[in-house]
Amino acid sequence: MAIAVNSETLSPTTLTAAAIVGLVVLQVARKFFKPRSPLEAIPSVGIPDYPFGFYVGSWNYIKHGRAITEEGFHKYPGKAFKVALANRWLVLVNGRSLIDDIRKAPDDFLSISEATNSLLHLEHTMGHEQHHDPYQIAVIRTPMTRNIGVCFPDIRNEVVAAFEDLVPAKTDEWISVPAMQTILQIVSRASNRFFIGLKCRDPDYIKITTQYALNVASDAVWLHVTPSILRPIAAHLFGHLETATRAAMKHLGPILQHRVEMDDKYGQDWPNGDRPNDMISWLLDDARGHPRRRTVRTLTRTLLNINFGALHTTTQATILHLSPRLLGFLHALYNLAANLEYVEPLREEIKSVIQSEGWTKTAMGKMVKLDSFLKESSRFVPGGAVGVMRQVIKDFTFSDGTMVPTGTLIAIPVLAEHYDEANYVHGDQFDPFRFSRMREQAGEGIKHQMITPSPDFLSFGVGRHACPGRFFAVNEQKLIMAHVILTYDFKLKDGIRPEDEWIALVGSANSTAEVMFRKRT
Ligand code: HEM
Ligand SMILES: *[C@@H]1O[C@H](CO)[C@@H](O)[C@H](O)[C@H]1NC(C)=O
Repeated sequence: MAIAVNSETLSPTTLTAAAIVGLVVLQVARKFFKPRSPLEAIPSVGIPDYPFGFYVGSWNYIKHGRAITEEGFHKYPGKAFKVALANRWLVLVNGRSLIDDIRKAPDDFLSISEATNSLLHLEHTMGHEQHHDPYQIAVIRTPMTRNIGVCFPDIRNEVVAAFEDLVPAKTDEWISVPAMQTILQIVSRASNRFFIGLKCRDPDYIKITTQYALNVASDAVWLHVTPSILRPIAAHLFGHLETATRAAMKHLGPILQHRVEMDDKYGQDWPNGDRPNDMISWLLDDARGHPRRRTVRTLTRTLLNINFGALHTTTQATILHLSPRLLGFLHALYNLAANLEYVEPLREEIKSVIQSEGWTKTAMGKMVKLDSFLKESSRFVPGGAVGVMRQVIKDFTFSDGTMVPTGTLIAIPVLAEHYDEANYVHGDQFDPFRFSRMREQAGEGIKHQMITPSPDFLSFGVGRHACPGRFFAVNEQKLIMAHVILTYDFKLKDGIRPEDEWIALVGSANSTAEVMFRKRT
């Protein structure tokens, strides 16, 4: 029997058949010999059980991410499961003890910045130095937070002025305004009054910062599908970072230049003591001895970045985008306008607290019902189905033995946790005063506040990386809501609570609905 194959006997059909058999053998062999990934031990949800099911699962997750997440949560309580997020696995862990593992995990195991970078491509969308030297986080956490009380009158002044400009209602007639557009500008002005002073009123500046937030998100989307070696050049050619930086520098450049020069010359002690108490000063204080952080360019980018964090307005939501922050307030406004019976108890509380405390941070701290209302709004729609994203940068083992290898993206199914009956009675119902009722119990007075992250309230994240801007954000939301409630009567234009807009994993407040206002007498 001739073993040598005569080339004449090899028809194209035989060759093709041999090639196919060869490939199949290779695949099977790979399956046997490839080191098994620890991820294989974690059950998957939403993946059809046939070849290339992963890709179909990815598509399903984009369309039905919220439902698939919920399915996994109920199928694997207190455990980990995985879903297909675009081109990779996303491991979702739930239950108190696994959430606690994330809370306690050191940064060199689970990284929030690498997670954000892998979703938003910060290196390209915000710039190299913003990703590798995020010094503003410490500035937000400490000096900024410490100055909320001192700066409160200015922030209130800006809220009042912004409403006069944008909601110029009279006592005898109703006016209708597009809610999202209006709230966006008000939050942006109030926040930037705190960050940079009166320059916050420049409409061009507001436009640049809000446009920047949209660009970061949209650039991130196409960068995500661009092969990684082409990303730097693609970002350089088609990205918006340079244009945004230049546009913002046109507005901020002269101010920042002056501030840097004065800081070099006088430090904190300007003649007549008239150094502004704002974010620019706090950033410069922090940047002493760091020449690179003191350039106009870096300061401009840092301010853009802080605006991105504070507003996060990306309504053109994608699976790539994290929690839409500003929209938290919008949910609360819709909730109140749709349930006007809650206005009176809130108005009473606000009136009596303002009477005794004036418009101060202390007053905001005493508005227990308002805190409960805002917290419940945020619990009910935390911005998305999943949150607290972390990238595993060193193999990590949870307390139940689940191992996630380096490179894995992990997160918590926040919405399902917020609705879980184990955490809340009637968790699927909006009950605005549930937290203020809890605080009425003996010994519970200072607990259950919106600023306090916990395993059952994850809207601001958990642990060391829980949102450092939350003290400001909560004070600002209270201030705006208190102003609305005392100044106006309001109602929904269409009479019904506008539907939220769910795109993939992200639940945004309705972007087109209108709210009507009339000045109170
Ligand atoms: C209602 C408004 C806000 C919400 C719902 C919100 C929510 C969040 C969430 C969920 C995280 C991730 C936490 C985690 O994964 O554990 C975060 C992080 C962050 N937030 Fe906020 N945020 C808000 C307002 C702000 C404001 C006003 C600022 C700045 C002035 C800010 C600055 C930041 C920064 C810098 C981080 C990153 C922290 C880190 O990497 O350690 N946020 N925020
Ligand atoms: C937003 O609200 C408006 C008014 O209630 C409604 O017509 C529209 O359909 C809503 N948008 C979505 C996406 O549900």
